[in-house]
Amino acid sequence: MQLNYIANASVRSSSGKTIPVIDPSDGQAFDEIQRSNAQDIDHAVQAAHDCMDTVWRKITAAERGRLLMRLAEKVEQHADELAMIEQRDCGKPTKQAKADAAALVRYFEFYAGACDKLHGETLPYLDGYSVMTWREPHGVTGHIIPWNYPMQIFGRSVGGALAAGNVCVVKPAEDACLSLIRVAQLAAEAGFPAGAINIVTGYGHEVGDALARHKGIHHISFTGSPKIGTLIQQVAAERHCPVTLELGGKSPQIVFADADLDAAIPAVINAIVQNAGQTCSAGSRLLVDEMIYEPLLERLGQAFERLRVGPATMDLDVGPLIRQTQQQRVWDFLSDAQVAGIPMVAQGEIVDEAPDTGFYQAPTLLRDVPVMHRLAQEEVFGPVLCAMSFRDENHAVELANATQFGLVAGIWTRDGSRQFRMAKRVQSGQVFINNYGAGGGVELPFGGVKSSGYGREKGFEALYGFTTLKTVAIKHG
Ligand code: NAI
Ligand code: MG
Repeated sequence: MQLNYIANASVRSSSGKTIPVIDPSDGQAFDEIQRSNAQDIDHAVQAAHDCMDTVWRKITAAERGRLLMRLAEKVEQHADELAMIEQRDCGKPTKQAKADAAALVRYFEFYAGACDKLHGETLPYLDGYSVMTWREPHGVTGHIIPWNYPMQIFGRSVGGALAAGNVCVVKPAEDACLSLIRVAQLAAEAGFPAGAINIVTGYGHEVGDALARHKGIHHISFTGSPKIGTLIQQVAAERHCPVTLELGGKSPQIVFADADLDAAIPAVINAIVQNAGQTCSAGSRLLVDEMIYEPLLERLGQAFERLRVGPATMDLDVGPLIRQTQQQRVWDFLSDAQVAGIPMVAQGEIVDEAPDTGFYQAPTLLRDVPVMHRLAQEEVFGPVLCAMSFRDENHAVELANATQFGLVAGIWTRDGSRQFRMAKRVQSGQVFINNYGAGGGVELPFGGVKSSGYGREKGFEALYGFTTLKTVAIKHG
């Protein structure tokens, strides 16, 4: 049985209740986590405050950097163990699980190096004054983590918060807690003081809600659905608590007739099948120049038919979805497509070895998806790619911007002027030209516009969100 990790100790929830842990590859329970409640959150927030007041606020930026670097080393030493934990808990193919552990190492390394480079400024002002700005931590930060990339999102969120001098209370998603409990144990071994990183598991509407409401939490980072993002903002507004929100996307891959298709095709496929499409930055809409629409769909269709789906340990192109309700969500979208007469170009294959009790979905390529249909508007969070054609550059921009989201956009063209025009006109937090996702990019600020959220994570930029700026003016004559 898995326990909460509070003040560097494994503890049970005061509820006495647990939640089963399911392996998505076969749908079977193999462990339990604590079903925590508001009392457990109280305990964790108190531990975090004690840590801040007694130890953490006196630790230098350089020492925080050393601690994060030691944690990066610990995670690297335990990378295979963490990848295997994540694989079973979340159904990740081996390559993906290993990539996630490697990304966690990179986040801690990056933020280790950033700790003592974060500083304020001195400002020119009136004669006889000296003015400076200090970047101060918020204090106790709350982190509500989703289940699609637990280690990566923990790395960007908790790594950044610690680097900026905060302490953390973390609520992992109920479907994906195991790796993060282990990472918190490794942090204690690396020398993090009791209360700097606390993990409290349980359901979102119970323990997540209690965390978001807690008056002792001074900043909230949330990654998840727009619906819960709205709730978090409402709850946080009661006490004017700042939030950083990453709420997913419906990101377009825009392919012009002059694009290098040999480069674009594998990137378009990877961007929708990686992690079974359960990726906030999934390239889930394919906008294609009408001049090459038919031949591109033909090539993509052949490639989709070769994609194989199966148990995580088989390390195929695609693993299972996280849980039965997610599988049902994808099925509902696909049956809506059928009702609307949206043509299916091709589907991948679920291998015979995949147990019927697992949560599998074959990658699916749909074409001529009407721009206002929910398949072209809402996040499916499954391996479903929706293609449509455009007439010219203006039409491409119009389609690209025609959703409530704006997280990532991919643009494929050899025309240098068009690259810049398109990058300026698409409403998106990140734009990739002749690549998609830049291989993860720990260093690259990430976040959305419109309903994709606000605030930036990753890179140095994230540190500004994890601090508050104090202006100090001294009159010395
Ligand atoms: P969700 O938004 O309910 O879950 C995300 C996190 O929020 C989890 O840790 C959950 O326990 C927590 N949570 C849930 N209710 C809460 C509440 N009332 N107060 C505080 N925390 C709460 O997302 P869900 O239901 O797991 O997935 C539904 C859809 O959301 C997906 O199909 C996908 O479209 C989107 N999603 C997007 C993610 C992204 O990376 N941007 C990640 C996860 C989901
Ligand atoms: Mg699980």
